[in-house]
Amino acid sequence: MPEIAYVNGKFLPLEQATVSVEDRGYQFADAVYEVVRTYRGRPFGLDEHLARLFRSLAAIQLEHHLDDGQLKSLINEAIQRGGFPETLVYIQISRGVAKRHRGVPDSYEPVFVMTVRELPDTRHIREHGITIVTVPDNRWGRCDIKSVGLLPNVLAYQTAHQAGANDAVFVEADGTINEATAANIFIIHRGRLLTPPEGPKILSGITRGNILDAARAAGIPAAERRITRTELLCADEAFLSSTTAEVVPILSVDGQKIGTGSLSLRIYEQFTKKFSSA
Ligand code: PDD
Repeated sequence: MPEIAYVNGKFLPLEQATVSVEDRGYQFADAVYEVVRTYRGRPFGLDEHLARLFRSLAAIQLEHHLDDGQLKSLINEAIQRGGFPETLVYIQISRGVAKRHRGVPDSYEPVFVMTVRELPDTRHIREHGITIVTVPDNRWGRCDIKSVGLLPNVLAYQTAHQAGANDAVFVEADGTINEATAANIFIIHRGRLLTPPEGPKILSGITRGNILDAARAAGIPAAERRITRTELLCADEAFLSSTTAEVVPILSVDGQKIGTGSLSLRIYEQFTKKFSSA
């Protein structure tokens, strides 16, 4: 199956897709993105993903002519063209091509890029779990914007790999944990599901929101509140959530084992009902 890209109005094979070296996304990370997946061939949580995309665009004052309906049909067309059993769609919108200068150009043409590929199989990590390390949260103050400026995330992930772990979780100097490099974090403490609150320190994950709903639907109390590294280390269970990996149990944090257990599984099973009935 060919991997496909869509660049400013045209579908083409991924390897033929290019953008200018003067694209502001490339030079300044002046761009935002979204990642959408399908279940049973249909995009999951598309309304929520697009709402978040429009929030990100507004937050960086990127002016555009995209509209919700047009984007939905484009994404659906891309999924059809790809023809994969399950699809991962990446969407990126930059502030376009301009002579390299920090100032936002008076007028610009946003560059809209989409790539369409087969959804990677993440069942293995979901079933086996991952190890994580904690790293200082040295990111910027607007992690709620889905910006392509992900260098701290790249470096934190690299730190984890160099330490023999699978991922890293960002922790503030006062011990507050925020999220992983590309996923939100949850712990289970005395039968309650806890996750850090929405705000500028985390991306408000679409999976995160659906997991909170699923927990409540399964009768498991859930709260959004500050969680410390110590609480994470003492958690009964802990997991990460994201579009691609869904729910991933955390086996250990900084070498210290965390319990794995039944509540996370119950929540995951409840979560799967969302897309089996979608
Ligand atoms: N990342 N936090 C961060 C920093 C993320 O990059 C992501 C997703 C999430 C989870 O959000 P969601 O549940 O909406 O996927 C949380 C995507 C998958 C990525 O960058 O590939």
